[in-house]
Amino acid sequence: MISATNNLRLLWAKRRLRSYLDTHVLSLNEEHWSVLRRLAQGKQRIRSALPLDFPLDELVAARLLRVYTEELNQSASNGSVATLQFVEAVNIELTYSCVLDCAHCLQSDLRHAGNHQWIDPSAVEHCLVDARNLGLVETGVNLTGGEVIQPGSNLLEILNITATMGLPVRLNTSAWWGAAERVRLGDHRFSPGDLLDYLIERGMKLIALSVDGRYRQYPSLWSALVKVLSLCDQRKLATELLFTGVSGPDIRSTLALLRHQTGSPLGSVIPGGSDVVDIEDSRNISVSPPRVSGDLSQTDCALKRFYRPRYLHIAPDGGVRTCMFASGAGWLGNIHEQSLWDIAKGFPQHRLPRAFATLEVTGDEPKSASRPSHPCAQAISLANKILERGSGPKGQKIVGSPPHKVEHLGGNPPRFSTDVVGVLHHGCF
Ligand SMILES: C[S@@+](CC[C@H](N)C(=O)[O-])C[C@H]1O[C@@H](n2cnc3c(N)ncnc32)[C@H](O)[C@@H]1O
Ligand code: SF4
Repeated sequence: MISATNNLRLLWAKRRLRSYLDTHVLSLNEEHWSVLRRLAQGKQRIRSALPLDFPLDELVAARLLRVYTEELNQSASNGSVATLQFVEAVNIELTYSCVLDCAHCLQSDLRHAGNHQWIDPSAVEHCLVDARNLGLVETGVNLTGGEVIQPGSNLLEILNITATMGLPVRLNTSAWWGAAERVRLGDHRFSPGDLLDYLIERGMKLIALSVDGRYRQYPSLWSALVKVLSLCDQRKLATELLFTGVSGPDIRSTLALLRHQTGSPLGSVIPGGSDVVDIEDSRNISVSPPRVSGDLSQTDCALKRFYRPRYLHIAPDGGVRTCMFASGAGWLGNIHEQSLWDIAKGFPQHRLPRAFATLEVTGDEPKSASRPSHPCAQAISLANKILERGSGPKGQKIVGSPPHKVEHLGGNPPRFSTDVVGVLHHGCF
């Protein structure tokens, strides 16, 4: 079975697919083009025979299509659905420990409850080897926190692993260290510029820096951001600015300010972002009608994040989950205890991912008046409902953390736009 990669979907959305094919010297006839277009639009997965001369290998090599591994296909043909096939990239949360305490942070309760552990690098290594064999890290690996750049960090150990495996890395940091003279990372000390050089040398292809309400809370952080941005710009490093809960006009004015303050057109900057999510929203929702497929069609997540496990999130305790917002709920398994391969094999048997994988989400059902302010919150509520309806132990909640008190700023997430094709982009973590 074959399906589209993120790359293909992005290129299609940005109308760059034809020029990308040109640069890869791939000329498609009308029949091939129509197959590729249907895949890019996410309309279908191809199970049946492709046109005889379809350039599948070339399109896989160009990172536009992916072919599912035999073993996962087998579990699909056994009657269970190999839902892990939806995963395209792995996000590793090295820790929930952080040098800041942003008011909106979805991990703040975990942190305040004393969750400061760091992920075990040897488990990460085994996990990534399996992930590569399962075809889950074609676009690379995202490393995030908490804050990955801080004295007690094991980031350098993790980068040794990803660099040895030749995996491209996207790194998410708050940029707090931009203003520091020296940054300590484990046993190493770096100037901010040297740190960036080291990270680039170790395979960091994209750095993601957050721009959100935190600069009101920590005004002095702004100069650190500007400094890191300048240093990245000097190195022509692809830099994603993660605007969370920021409106389109504010993004434009912030970009203008940053260009002014860095004295650069910031040609390598990619704006991205999302809504601020209030997980607590999911607690007060009653969804009707009580058909799961109907419930799901009321949400507008568009097969991103929670619904389809496009990304695999790995928590500092090794827990594996499909939803970035259900922090620490490692309900698919745990890489500190099992191989990812075993987790992958068990995945089709899990009631929840199975439900998500088999549902026909038509999108034509009436919208519920009681929709939560963020689709992820509704998805979590639905997931809990599915579990409660099944025969599994009651109270096996997807989200078990104490209430978050965060402001929902609403608004449409800004559109992701990048010329950096081939560099992984995971959305908003
Ligand atoms: C959890 S942070 C970890 C990386 C790093 N400490 C940082 O802040 O960039 C990753 C991203 O999640 C975003 N985030 C935190 N809380 C959020 C929430 N409640 N809703 C949506 N995004 C959130 C942050 O703004 C940040 O861009
Ligand atoms: S958003 Fe990032 S910087 Fe802020 S507290 Fe959360 S992990 Fe730390």
